[in-house]
Amino acid sequence: MLLPNQSVNSDGHLIVGGCDTVGLAREYDTPLYVLDEQIVRQNCRQYRQAFAQRLPEFEIAYASKALMTKAICKIMQQEEMGLDVASQGELYTALEAGFAPAKIKLHGNFKKPALLRMALEHDIGRIVADSIPELELISEVATEVGKRAHILIRITPGIKADTHERIRTGQEDTKFGLGLAGGAAMTAAKLALDLPDVALHGFNCHIGSQLLHTDGFVRAATVVMDFIAQVGMETGYVAEQFDIGGGLGIRYQEDDMPPTIDRLAEEVCAAFTAAADHHNVPLPELILEPGRSIVGEAGVTLYTIGVVKEIPGIRTYVSVDGGLSDNPRPLLYDAEYEVLIANRANQQPDCIVRVAGAHCETDTLFPESNLADPQPGDILAVQSTGAYTYAMASNYNRFTKPAMVLVSDGNAELIVTREGLEDLVRHDVIPQRLA
Ligand SMILES: Cc1ncc(COP(=O)(O)O)c(C=O)c1O
Repeated sequence: MLLPNQSVNSDGHLIVGGCDTVGLAREYDTPLYVLDEQIVRQNCRQYRQAFAQRLPEFEIAYASKALMTKAICKIMQQEEMGLDVASQGELYTALEAGFAPAKIKLHGNFKKPALLRMALEHDIGRIVADSIPELELISEVATEVGKRAHILIRITPGIKADTHERIRTGQEDTKFGLGLAGGAAMTAAKLALDLPDVALHGFNCHIGSQLLHTDGFVRAATVVMDFIAQVGMETGYVAEQFDIGGGLGIRYQEDDMPPTIDRLAEEVCAAFTAAADHHNVPLPELILEPGRSIVGEAGVTLYTIGVVKEIPGIRTYVSVDGGLSDNPRPLLYDAEYEVLIANRANQQPDCIVRVAGAHCETDTLFPESNLADPQPGDILAVQSTGAYTYAMASNYNRFTKPAMVLVSDGNAELIVTREGLEDLVRHDVIPQRLA
């Protein structure tokens, strides 16, 4: 499977963003994350255009948990995107990159006072309150630092999205948000309107990730608009903003058929405006927080194949020089990917093998991959790895985290340097008595 902006050159090498992946592997070593800038920008523009055509007011806020680096922040700022952060580290990265604080939204189900203080001191745009105790804490910290907290309240709409259970977040039984059914969301809305130093701007929900159908989004738009109307009836409050979260799925495998961004916009906007009309409430500004669908298909990971081990009558194992530490998704969610031999991308795949990482686990990356006669020294390219790979990388087994290059029009530039061995011991301390 080739993704947009990819091709195969006359040497049979996979080309991404105009760059020869075999050359990239040689120059920057492997494992290597490769990110196609044009695809990232194209996705941002498609989101903005699709909603601009249909709504008077909207914002697309990139969910940085999918992939966060300072260069990504710069691209998002140039593309006039907002930014969703969900930790102190993501917020710090955004601020270090010079991202406009007013366009940052802070999420998370447990924000410590230090994080709230940092957000308030930097005047970030919105804090998304996730619980009643947190609402009270936001108010306290705002008073303490002498600021007004501009907030959204996260609603749990009671929608069970059709996706892996670990990335499903809109059902009643979740740690996230305030439930509609038991009345917690209404209690929170009323409390927010009363709390000192808190300005309520509206509501948020996020039902899950890697959604391959639009029905969950459509239901969320309707359910939250019903709630907004109900809050209006009970309190007279008019919501200015409705943030419907992220979640649009991408193509990991040839037969994945995610809705296009335009179709998502068409269906969400139709449900959203119909609900506003039905309840006769003013249309809030609609905010979306896509992460995966902005960067996912823009990423390719390159590995070097090391050992090819054939167990007669059982299977062939192909080991690569990375794995669990640079992409935990296969082990976390049984995530599946399309893979190919980057240096022989023109050769018909005809060997079913199991691709494994190099870690001290059975870190099966791709249990049944069809590859073109994999040999030690070949470069394995894994498609659609832009989201939730580097972002979830670890130093398990004291592997160093790979570098990342941004490719565009045949040029490659480092946006994350490869960790060195010295980075691995940087925080180790030997107490005097052990020295
Ligand atoms: C609150 C919130 N918004 C946005 C996103 C982004 O989701 P996705 O990357 O699927 O678009 C997530 C992901 O978990 C999230 O929790």
